[in-house]
Amino acid sequence: MPEQSSPAERAVTKRVRTRHFQNAKDTGILITGLTSYDQLSAQIFDEAGIDFLLVGDSAGNNVYGYDTTLPVTVDELIPLARAVAGAVKRALVVADMPFGSYENSAEEALHTAVRFMKETGAHAVKLEGGVRSADKIRRIVDAGVPVMAHIGFTPQSEHGLGGHIIQGRGEGEEQLLADALAVEEAGAFAVVLEMVPAAAAERVTKALRIPTIGVGAGPHVDGQLLVWTDFAGFSTGRVPKFVKQYADLRGVLSQAVEQFRSDVAGGSYPGPEHSYE
Ligand code: KIV
Repeated sequence: MPEQSSPAERAVTKRVRTRHFQNAKDTGILITGLTSYDQLSAQIFDEAGIDFLLVGDSAGNNVYGYDTTLPVTVDELIPLARAVAGAVKRALVVADMPFGSYENSAEEALHTAVRFMKETGAHAVKLEGGVRSADKIRRIVDAGVPVMAHIGFTPQSEHGLGGHIIQGRGEGEEQLLADALAVEEAGAFAVVLEMVPAAAAERVTKALRIPTIGVGAGPHVDGQLLVWTDFAGFSTGRVPKFVKQYADLRGVLSQAVEQFRSDVAGGSYPGPEHSYE
């Protein structure tokens, strides 16, 4: 990232580009990312200097209320990506390619990537898979579209992987490394490492030229990504061990809603100050 320390400095920094990711790794600056699915959160994260916003297929859970990310479609993600891309001034916006939109062939992957780029204004796409997705990444990159890769635990394969299971343990570490090298070789500008042991993530990070972005991958990576509804305490249910909750947004909102309901029921809202003469 362009070096920036204060909000004021960040505010004047030009748009983050994929080359800034490489500069960041080369100079030891850590990269920050959050998911975002709407204009308001995107503005807040952008103004706070978050380097990239991922319009994740986790919108399947967090916007559409599905149990997994599997059902969410390109048509459902496109309006969200458009809202996020339209809201930011600085952050790089990455649109997630959902399950079923790229696995068939490199041509299908390119077709989906082109839709996101043409219809949303996003600056890059993300897709899951290492060695198995390398040909798709290469095809998209060759067409001029930056790709963020995603290996380790890949939620779109959760049934194939047998659940939310940490990847890259034991013999799995060699596969993780092979996947990482494959996506780098295919032209990805960065790679997300999800739910892998810290030591394995460190080994991959040292082996790669491109930056690694950890989500549950410990501290020895080149950047960190969190699902915003988890980090802000807005989600329901259990959050993964790796998530640090920075706020209790659900609690704050619940309290406000209860207060509003009771003010209306008790006749104290609206008062004269909220009424027109
Ligand atoms: O969709 C998403 O939120 C993601 C991150 C968890 C990496 O893919």
